[in-house]
Amino acid sequence: MKVDLSTTLGRPVSILSQIYGTTSAAKAYESHRLHPEIFEPDSWDMSSGRNFEEWLDPRFLALIERARHVSSSEDEGEETEESPIEAARDGEEAAAGHERAGAPGGYSFYGSEDEEDEEDKAARVVEQAAARRGAAAAAELESAGLLKIEAPGVYSFPMFSTQFCSLFLEEVDNFYLTGIPARGPNSMNNYGVIVNDIGLRPALNMVQQQLVLPLVSALFPLEGAQLDGHHSFMVRYRADGDKGLDMHTDDSDVTLNICLGREGFKASGLTFCGKFGTPDHRQFTSKVKHQIGRAVVHLGQQRHGADDISLGERNNLIIWNHNLAYRQSDVFLRRMQRYEREGGPPDDRCLSFTHDKDWLTYRKAYPAGQEELADRAWCPPKNKRHRAWGGLDHLA
Ligand SMILES: [Fe+2]
Repeated sequence: MKVDLSTTLGRPVSILSQIYGTTSAAKAYESHRLHPEIFEPDSWDMSSGRNFEEWLDPRFLALIERARHVSSSEDEGEETEESPIEAARDGEEAAAGHERAGAPGGYSFYGSEDEEDEEDKAARVVEQAAARRGAAAAAELESAGLLKIEAPGVYSFPMFSTQFCSLFLEEVDNFYLTGIPARGPNSMNNYGVIVNDIGLRPALNMVQQQLVLPLVSALFPLEGAQLDGHHSFMVRYRADGDKGLDMHTDDSDVTLNICLGREGFKASGLTFCGKFGTPDHRQFTSKVKHQIGRAVVHLGQQRHGADDISLGERNNLIIWNHNLAYRQSDVFLRRMQRYEREGGPPDDRCLSFTHDKDWLTYRKAYPAGQEELADRAWCPPKNKRHRAWGGLDHLA
């Protein structure tokens, strides 16, 4: 069965090219760097003895330390040394004792009403067990006052100091001023830059391994168990550019979204809905308010969108973290192929004019100039529209 990546925000860029690629923009910009220290991987090495409080919020340092402790406690408590991926191989046995949650129409797959086979059930058991472990870790971190659970699988926490946010913005502003051509962030954002392309990839590799991995391996024990690639970019929202971003999912396993702001901006927030392929994919779960230096972390498969900015300019650094072992696993493949029937009518806040076939059922018209998107819309897939719709399912 074909894995459909058109449902994600990102272009189908080769992960290997993201990991190993270098760009001419990075070379051209090297002699123009304003704050060369942020490009140096050693600056982000936690074992260097460097005082990180200048760049990182002290509460973030406490958070990753506690997350390491949570993960090591879990490891000690487990009866086996199996990773979630390894556990998938043993999933058939687990599936035999698994009671699946009720879902309208059962668990069927793209374009069909096929029942799950044993391997599909096994994959689901692995996913659910990992999600439970992640939720327990999040609850512990929240009870320690280090993290906020915005919704199941959506967490926020202070990460960068305001001083570092300004430093980073100055650097990117400086890059724009050079006029060196660089690729835009992704297929939906028109303003911003892939920061990996301007020479920040080695530093962000260190950020990923030293700062992001300890946290996401605790919060997302399956998708964040290891991180070996990233697509990192800045997005910019303001009245004369992109004001917001339509609902979408990311081509990442785990997304880290850090608000760098620009002092004085006003924006209502980042809206979250359910996970791709689940009955509540288009059901509202939370709205996260942007604050300078604060990060939000979530799975790439979580539907989300950026509300329109109302004043000033907002910049966010976004790191799409990739886990190659997970992407090569049977669990991932089966998740990508699974699409459950919607549990009910979509929440108005979760509708996407880019992706939803039934946009006009709920809204009077497309945003100006976006009408052609109707031809490319895919959601919900055939036979997956909620039963309360009452129409001919195959025409949905
Ligand atoms: Fe996104």
